[in-house]
Amino acid sequence: MAECVSTTVHVPFMPLGARSYDIHIGPDALDRLGAYLASDHAPKGLVGLVTDAHVAPLYADAVLDRVRAAGKACVVHTLPAGEESKRLDRVGEICGAFLEAGMDRAGLVVALGGGVTGDIAGFAASVFMRGVPFVQIPTTIVAQVDSSVGGKTGVNHPLGKNTIGAFHQPDGVFIDLAMLSTLPDRELRAGMAEVIKHGVIADADLFAYLEENAARILAKDLDALRVPVVRSCEIKAAVVAADEREQGLRANLNYGHTFGHAIETASGYARFLHGEAVALGMCAAGELGRLLGLVDAAFAERQRACCAAFGLPVRWPEMPLEETLAAMKHDKKARAGTLKFIVPAGMGMVVHRTDIPPELARAALETLL
Ligand code: NAD
Ligand code: GLY
Repeated sequence: MAECVSTTVHVPFMPLGARSYDIHIGPDALDRLGAYLASDHAPKGLVGLVTDAHVAPLYADAVLDRVRAAGKACVVHTLPAGEESKRLDRVGEICGAFLEAGMDRAGLVVALGGGVTGDIAGFAASVFMRGVPFVQIPTTIVAQVDSSVGGKTGVNHPLGKNTIGAFHQPDGVFIDLAMLSTLPDRELRAGMAEVIKHGVIADADLFAYLEENAARILAKDLDALRVPVVRSCEIKAAVVAADEREQGLRANLNYGHTFGHAIETASGYARFLHGEAVALGMCAAGELGRLLGLVDAAFAERQRACCAAFGLPVRWPEMPLEETLAAMKHDKKARAGTLKFIVPAGMGMVVHRTDIPPELARAALETLL
């Protein structure tokens, strides 16, 4: 796979008819945001900038400079950092701040931050005045390779993660890789699990690139990071364009997540970051593929080695097996009785299986012990 220099600009396209948009990836991403804001395509009203307490001091001023240069007024709403903010009452607070500042139907929401900020700001945009446009400026790997693209927005409920939400596509995504320079190393590693996932489900070359460039990526070499971010956006855009509402193909993006969600639940959402649980989930899914005869032991080992190279967990010796299986069963009830596993069938290829006997799921999980 060809590498590219850090000054290169890439613009993957999300083809969704009248709701199509560009994903601008390059060092001039914020200037491109400025050009969009000054253009006829942008809403004419107040800008509502939603960010979090870690990101605001780092990048809010740079965004506000572009907003002001485009001649727009702006209200800034800063959330406490972290998953805890992704809840319904915070949506009310965001909408309240917009209303107090005088935002109306001509407003534009700008989400600046990680997946938490993008998900909640996008959801606020979907309901404020019955829906106003929004744009994403993602600042974590998770957000740059996954959550900012595709239009899934929402918040958590105490009874379930991401259970309240809406499909609301952004008007544009503006990605400056340099913003990753301040991201904590553990967040970077966890985000790379979603990139490894893209390789396994859709792109053997991307997977090979990750194997060869793990050290450079972990050192936050922007040239090395560009390939996985650009390719992930291309893969996600293609999947979402084919199946926006997750009737089939989009479920491929949930690879590693059936086991991963159960692992997050069984560990009380405290021990693992989401991407770390997904890495464990992919290892279990790889073993499931082996048990089903869809891939061989070398495949499962190769995937495990790649996750390990990115400092991701590949075993959980203290895993409470029964609790993890119970969490998966609960997930099954929540999804109308069918537990769907996305299983590898070769590098870059997955299949959907809803017929996995419980003893096989147990055996796959046991390989993590
Ligand atoms: P996050 O938004 O909580 O960010 C992680 C941490 O990094 C936070 O403390 C944040 O303040 C900090 N941070 C963000 N950017 C930074 C930067 N550049 N420098 C320094 N610190 C920075 O978490 P996340 O991992 O980005 O996203 C996880 C969320 O995304 C979850 O809620 C998940 O459900 C959601 N998600 C949504 C989709 C989707 O399709 N909508 C896809 C994947 C994940
Ligand atoms: N992150 C999974 C999806 O967007 O469908």
